[in-house]
Amino acid sequence: MNTPAYIFDVSKFTARIEQFFDLRQKTRFKLLYSIKALPIPSVLELMRPHVDGFSVSSLFEAKLAREVLGEEGSIHITSPGLRTDEIAEIREVCDYLSLNSLSQRARFFDPMLSKTSFGVRINPQLSFLDDDRYDPCRRFSKLGVPLEEIETLDGMSGLHFHTMFASGNVLPLKLTLEKIESRLGDQLKQLDWINIGGGYVFCDQSVFAEFEEIIRRLSDRYDLTVFFEPGRGIIGEAGELVTEVIDRFESEGKTIVVLDTTVIHHPEIFEYQKPPVIREAVDGEGWSCLLVGCSCKSGDLFGEYQFEQPLMVGSRISLTDVGAYSLVKASRFNGINLPSVYLRDANGRLELIKQYGYEDYTAHWD
Ligand SMILES: Cc1ncc(COP(=O)(O)O)c(C=O)c1O
Repeated sequence: MNTPAYIFDVSKFTARIEQFFDLRQKTRFKLLYSIKALPIPSVLELMRPHVDGFSVSSLFEAKLAREVLGEEGSIHITSPGLRTDEIAEIREVCDYLSLNSLSQRARFFDPMLSKTSFGVRINPQLSFLDDDRYDPCRRFSKLGVPLEEIETLDGMSGLHFHTMFASGNVLPLKLTLEKIESRLGDQLKQLDWINIGGGYVFCDQSVFAEFEEIIRRLSDRYDLTVFFEPGRGIIGEAGELVTEVIDRFESEGKTIVVLDTTVIHHPEIFEYQKPPVIREAVDGEGWSCLLVGCSCKSGDLFGEYQFEQPLMVGSRISLTDVGAYSLVKASRFNGINLPSVYLRDANGRLELIKQYGYEDYTAHWD
């Protein structure tokens, strides 16, 4: 296997999707995969039979989703970036369009278009995140019409909100819905659907049971189809990044281990200053080193880690839970090649599905 390499474990993302099987069978719950987290066509193909569609954020994502889905399944879009010169094509490709602002509503809502189901994205103005960088409900948010400014839902078929970031519990969802219900009440009955966004990662069965209860209540009480569109919750833990040590030296008493990857292959590490989980690292005692990326940025650091045995040039380690928002945000900064991409099947066999080279690098600039 070439390194650096992302490996996506098919059983892991399939299991995440299968978790929703019963809910999809027994209620009007629909599962969409948010392709912004990882839009690799062969991964989307594998997901296609097990989801109700894809959620997208741009014309390009919408076209890719349509290519994979063919005529089956639905495509949902919401974005602050809808453009006048793309809207006709977007309305052609997407089945559901949640307008992000009253201005978008005035310009892009067309009741004569029977093909598109229009909704409005609201900002429930209820923050659960203490970091504005990933809080859609931050003050002066660009994401959705502030709930208190919604006067009427007339003409709309649905409501959309997305307010969370990697939440492992559903209390925020519960409280958000309570707030929406108390503001809009029975107006919700005039809608066909509600899209509760993504932002949740269900690892715990008891949390999942609570989620089910919320969905059932919503559809029973208001007769709504409920769409859920996770990205990270499906592909996040299915992805790992395998990297090799390419240099090792001492700097002012610390051992520096240079990897053949960089935080630019998983920019959230730098963006949110969140050290990745390294599978081979041990807690506390052990041989200690500073893992660094191979780009010129001095802040290209993974962090200080301990290992049972010293890492040597040629040793390989894996960053885990990096399936979401990694490859899709990665760049070839410094001319460092992008990682190869492998799928791991249920028998542990690896299939190389993407490998980049100098031609891809130059094609980017030509
Ligand atoms: C509107 C919308 N839906 C769904 C998602 C997917 O979120 P996550 O990957 O955290 O589940 C996002 C992420 O930014 C989003 O903005």
